[in-house]
Amino acid sequence: MDNNTFALILAGGSGKRMGNPDKPKQFLMLGGKPILVHTIEKFCVAVEFRSVIVLCPDMWVRQTKDLVSRYLPHLDHIEVVAGGPVRNDTIMKGLDYIEKRYGMDDDTIVVTHDAVRPFVSHRIIQENVAAMEKFDACDTVVAATDTIVESTNGEMISCIPNRRNYYQGQTPQSFKATKLRTLYGRLSDEDKLILTDACKIFTMCEEPVALIRGDVSNIKITYPHDMRVARAMMEQQGETDA
Ligand code: CTP
Repeated sequence: MDNNTFALILAGGSGKRMGNPDKPKQFLMLGGKPILVHTIEKFCVAVEFRSVIVLCPDMWVRQTKDLVSRYLPHLDHIEVVAGGPVRNDTIMKGLDYIEKRYGMDDDTIVVTHDAVRPFVSHRIIQENVAAMEKFDACDTVVAATDTIVESTNGEMISCIPNRRNYYQGQTPQSFKATKLRTLYGRLSDEDKLILTDACKIFTMCEEPVALIRGDVSNIKITYPHDMRVARAMMEQQGETDA
């Protein structure tokens, strides 16, 4: 059977909250390698993807290709492509690339993942791929640990929902590619503006999304504090591996 499963590594952001204007955070060094390289490696080992497609800012395509040849010279199914201005545009650029280069049909699967979550486990990636046998979309989540407080005006609580029904979204998020694109095309420009999350494309169209069990260690590096946590985690892993 043809391998129709692609990884889209989303590295097209600028990382403003990290406060490092010259270099988006996915290119910062962590344990001797750029964060992005750790993430790509996880995907190359966990599952046999037809291609691992790295989407980075337009201006960084050359440097990203250089990083891949330098750190991962033994791997030949990694491609580097320019992303878009917002996260969902980056995903759509990935779909366009797959369609043009490989062709796309109803069975084409994309496993999308934040480049800045380098601690994703092989188990999580494998369970995302396995879920695509049964579902058209899945999201990796962990149970919410803090109580969620809703306020619609930012001043007073409007409601405190039952924590048992709440989860925090991580990535990967995986999709049947043609369905994702069709549903995205159905949304108005206004809807697209409020989309912060690709699974929301499905939920806004009232399409089901399955849950995959994430892990608290699958952190997203957003602020300088996360970088310190990531360094400590990396050191601990080094000690465990040694
Ligand atoms: N991302 C992307 N394309 C964009 C924006 C974000 O591929 N146009 C990716 C980022 O590179 C990151 C992931 O989506 O791996 C999560 O993005 P996030 O950290 O929330 O956004 P950034 O733009 O990277 O950071 P900030 O919001 O602090 O500027």
